[in-house]
Amino acid sequence: MSAHRFTVTVWLLLLLHVSGSAMKINLFSRHRNRGPQDGDARLFGGGAADGRVEIYHDGAWGTVCDDGWDLAEAHVVCRQLGFTRAESVVIGKNYGKASGPIWLDDLKCEGTEIYLSTCAFTNWGATDCSHKEDVGVICENGRANLTNDNAVYSLDHSISLSDERGQIFDSASGADFFISVRSVTGNTQEDGAPEVVGVTIWAHKLILSQFPLFNASEGSNITVDIRLSCQPHFSSFIRYIYTRKVDVNLSSVQCLHWMASTFGVKQLMEDTGRLFSKILPEDASFLTQVSLYEYAAETQDWVLQENCLQYMAWNYPNLTSSPAWTRLSVELLRSLLLRSDLVVPDEYFVLQTVESWITGKGNSTSLETQVGLLSLIRFPMIPAEALYELEYNSSLYSTHMSMYREKLLKAFQFNVLVFSNLMSNPKFNREDEDYRPRIYTAELWSAILPRQQPLYSHRTHQYDTMATVFNTPVHNSLIFKSNKISWDANVFKSQQECANRGLRCESFPTARLVPQNSLSQWSNVHFRNRLLLVCQGKYVFQVQDFKNNMAVNGTQVLAYPCPDDQYTFRFVVRPKYV
Ligand SMILES: *[C@@H]1O[C@H](CO)[C@@H](O)[C@H](O)[C@H]1NC(C)=O
Ligand SMILES: *[C@@H]1O[C@H](CO)[C@@H](O)[C@H](O)[C@H]1NC(C)=O
Ligand SMILES: *[C@@H]1O[C@H](CO)[C@@H](O)[C@H](O)[C@H]1NC(C)=O
Ligand SMILES: *[C@@H]1O[C@H](CO)[C@@H](O)[C@H](O)[C@H]1NC(C)=O
Ligand SMILES: *[C@@H]1O[C@H](CO)[C@@H](O)[C@H](O)[C@H]1NC(C)=O
Ligand SMILES: *[C@@H]1O[C@H](CO)[C@@H](O)[C@H](O)[C@H]1NC(C)=O
Ligand SMILES: *[C@@H]1O[C@H](CO)[C@@H](O)[C@H](O)[C@H]1NC(C)=O
Ligand SMILES: *[C@@H]1O[C@H](CO)[C@@H](O)[C@H](O)[C@H]1NC(C)=O
Repeated sequence: MSAHRFTVTVWLLLLLHVSGSAMKINLFSRHRNRGPQDGDARLFGGGAADGRVEIYHDGAWGTVCDDGWDLAEAHVVCRQLGFTRAESVVIGKNYGKASGPIWLDDLKCEGTEIYLSTCAFTNWGATDCSHKEDVGVICENGRANLTNDNAVYSLDHSISLSDERGQIFDSASGADFFISVRSVTGNTQEDGAPEVVGVTIWAHKLILSQFPLFNASEGSNITVDIRLSCQPHFSSFIRYIYTRKVDVNLSSVQCLHWMASTFGVKQLMEDTGRLFSKILPEDASFLTQVSLYEYAAETQDWVLQENCLQYMAWNYPNLTSSPAWTRLSVELLRSLLLRSDLVVPDEYFVLQTVESWITGKGNSTSLETQVGLLSLIRFPMIPAEALYELEYNSSLYSTHMSMYREKLLKAFQFNVLVFSNLMSNPKFNREDEDYRPRIYTAELWSAILPRQQPLYSHRTHQYDTMATVFNTPVHNSLIFKSNKISWDANVFKSQQECANRGLRCESFPTARLVPQNSLSQWSNVHFRNRLLLVCQGKYVFQVQDFKNNMAVNGTQVLAYPCPDDQYTFRFVVRPKYV
């Protein structure tokens, strides 16, 4: 094919492409990067889990000298970065030239610190080392132990000629428009200017002009500022505009969503948006969930924000033992503590986790913030045995004594007074969240079906016995200590099984939870029970209400997936005064 004919072919292909449907513009507010903050760490110049250790202080990234650098110190920095631990320390390896300050020298960590900068060291920048002594680390790459290893989702809206158009993009033949993609690295250059790295991507005006936000009809080039971690994905994004095909994974989904919303590529934005809830359960480190939550807040995407928050609320115990826990913002932790759908063993667990979050932050949260968070604990819901020992077992009791005393008094009153007496005091408010249970999964309040392996499976239709009887107190107030209710819990897998009980069921499997005693004598207690669907014994992916004792798959728009539909049912009893 002659050069001329080739060019003609290219233009024909491009023209065919443009005759496709025009896209509507839907623009989110622009994305802002969270800049590095004092004490942040990163690995530079290596792979995903190794590199030179750099730490941010006073507006610049600097290095760490090898005096005192050992496995204890390496564990701290790996954990700070979301890895489980360090594999080995690296000394004397050149991960590219370092030019910034040497921030840390004579470092001594216990190994339990959360941030490298909370270990003992001489002083910021006080050192007699040179960059030859910069340390590196290899972290154990146990980050994001995916339930679905390295899942890749293929988005494909391609029409004919997709592959040819992909080749046109790849060859850049006839390209008449270029995009300079720039990112600041967070480093400062010798002249004091911020270091910027970039790539240039060649494209065709005709293609890009479908999306006016590229300004392709106005000039010959644009410059796009993008966060460093998104830079490698920009080319896939532009290629998508040619081919309508792209592979998406955990590390690229957020970038692609941002680019699609920035340039008004609506279909891609919707597709990646839908992928978010699929991807949420994949990251056991919770770094993705937290990062997506922050992204949603920045872009004012309330649906995505609720989607992330709900997942974290339903899987709160795992969140609290994940690397993301101590990095949670005050605002995010507050939003979680306000929720009644927090799934936790009991309220004492919530108190302990908030105390651990506060102590983990060292002195970086103000006393007001601490009190603000602690006051969201529903003290009356704390089991009485834990209340009695709180004074001795709580790590913050002595720092916030008056607040704890006031809350304990309220809790004790709740446990010894009949609710109507409590409420006759104008100090108490019926609507007070403190008297509302969350979803408490402690044995006292819940039961699991099936009780043994194998789990229920849609594919094999295998079951363990799908019925159980369990007892709970009538209410968690001590007044009801000796009053029990017996509950009959069932999961039905066919219309036949429902019919055997004289029931009509709408979908399968379906769950039923029935009190075996008459509840009429407890007229001031109502039950707002819940059914948790727990995927592969690992994460809660759905929470259902009960209506007329039958579980209802509510009007829930936000659903997380459960591969193979391998799940267990956890029935949770939740009494509440009315
Ligand atoms: C991740 O998975 C591997 C193998 O499946 C396991 O050995 C390792 O302990 C897991 N890491 C975490 C943090 O769960
Ligand atoms: C996602 O895909 C890119 C290549 O497209 C790859 O470099 C990266 O490691 C993948 N990330 C994950 C978490 O699988
Ligand atoms: C980029 O575009 C601007 C105006 O849109 C123009 O002034 C400038 O010369 C272009 N740069 C290059 C290298 O073509
Ligand atoms: C397109 O042009 C508008 C108006 O000149 C400008 O505000 C916008 O930043 C441009 N977009 C890009 C991607 O350069
Ligand atoms: C927090 O501050 C108190 C005094 O205000 C001090 O005694 C304590 O050591 C500090 N804790 C940490 C972890 O810095
Ligand atoms: C309080 O601490 C004591 C001693 O460490 C322990 O035995 C007890 O179980 C703790 N109480 C609760 C409710 O955790
Ligand atoms: C959550 O924690 C439980 C108990 O520690 C564990 O069995 C489960 O695998 C965890 N789930 C995930 C998604 O890591
Ligand atoms: C609940 O309803 C949604 C939407 O109708 C459906 O996709 C999902 O499979 C249902 N879940 C269960 C457990 O039946």
